[in-house]
Amino acid sequence: MPVKTIRWDDDRIVIIDQSRLPLETAYISLDTCDQVWEAIRRLKVRGAPAIGLTAAFGVYLAARASKATEVEELLSDIDRAAKYLATARPTAVNLFWALRRMQKCARQKAAAIPDVETVKAALLAEAQSMIQEDNAVCLSIGYHGLTLLRPGMNLLTHCNAGGLGTAQWGTALAPIYLAHEQGYSLRVYVDETRPVLQGARLTAWELQQAGVHAVLICDNMAGFLMQRGRIDAIIVGTDRVTANGDVVNKIGTYSLAVLARHHGIPFYVAAPRSSIDLETSKGEMVTIEERDADEITSAFGVRTAPQDIEVYNPAFDVTPAELVTAMITEVGILRHPCEVSLAEAKHTAFKMSEAVRKRLEDT
Ligand code: MRU
Repeated sequence: MPVKTIRWDDDRIVIIDQSRLPLETAYISLDTCDQVWEAIRRLKVRGAPAIGLTAAFGVYLAARASKATEVEELLSDIDRAAKYLATARPTAVNLFWALRRMQKCARQKAAAIPDVETVKAALLAEAQSMIQEDNAVCLSIGYHGLTLLRPGMNLLTHCNAGGLGTAQWGTALAPIYLAHEQGYSLRVYVDETRPVLQGARLTAWELQQAGVHAVLICDNMAGFLMQRGRIDAIIVGTDRVTANGDVVNKIGTYSLAVLARHHGIPFYVAAPRSSIDLETSKGEMVTIEERDADEITSAFGVRTAPQDIEVYNPAFDVTPAELVTAMITEVGILRHPCEVSLAEAKHTAFKMSEAVRKRLEDT
């Protein structure tokens, strides 16, 4: 079973510090909203769903620290915290989804029971329930995704859309974990994912921990493997899917999708519905995070490029909807036309299957 990435323990958030993996499995606790912002910005916690969940607790921590005696004052403090946390990273829509959900929860509770402590307690319960929900959603993605896999398949994944990017089960890796349990003997090629190596540091680590056969490759080797017929399908996660089905994900995803189309290989995107952004019509409207130059000019503290070289470091790219074979969500597999299937999926009530319910009970 994948490790728990985020948990609420002893009145604080405990996260696995992903910036130190795989050399060290260190857990750190976050007690303040500032620490949450910092952890998200510095990639101690990363991956769209995990960012959202951590930020939700960040809102609670801000509310807990608030000195407000009146509910209106508390609501202003909560809004201020949400606005601040929203500046941690710009691309993953799950961050904004989670913050809005926490703000809505506070307002609804305040309207029903205008008491400061009651609103704070409601926020903590909401953030905790988002973790339970994430587990149910990811497991459901896992079972739906499993229907696309066959024993003995060779898969390719990019970045980390595993347990570490969510509360526990992952999105793109959830079907792989379930297939592995059922003895599918898959081989998963893992793109190292320059510049920050989420593939090499995180995906390779978590697949290895789970006993899945993982093979690490450099990003620029993927095309060669496809050409040699060594990849049967590609599964990636996403930070945001726009209303037309464009997929915003870790830089390098678009190149993989183009290669997959050229070689006739299915290209799947696994995503919870909290990553679907119907308010944004197409991928080119999404703000693409640009990160520090030193992610490219140095590799783990060692300078690898000349001083003063100009650098461009976009962290995400946009894969046009037409290159995506299907999307795996908690309410099923979505196919083209995306405008229709995404809108329908967003409005479908999520029902946990018996398999997921049982699985959650057992864990
Ligand atoms: O910069 P990161 O590591 O936060 O980027 C993460 C990704 O691109 C993931 O594929 C995506 O967030 C899905 S995580 C389940």
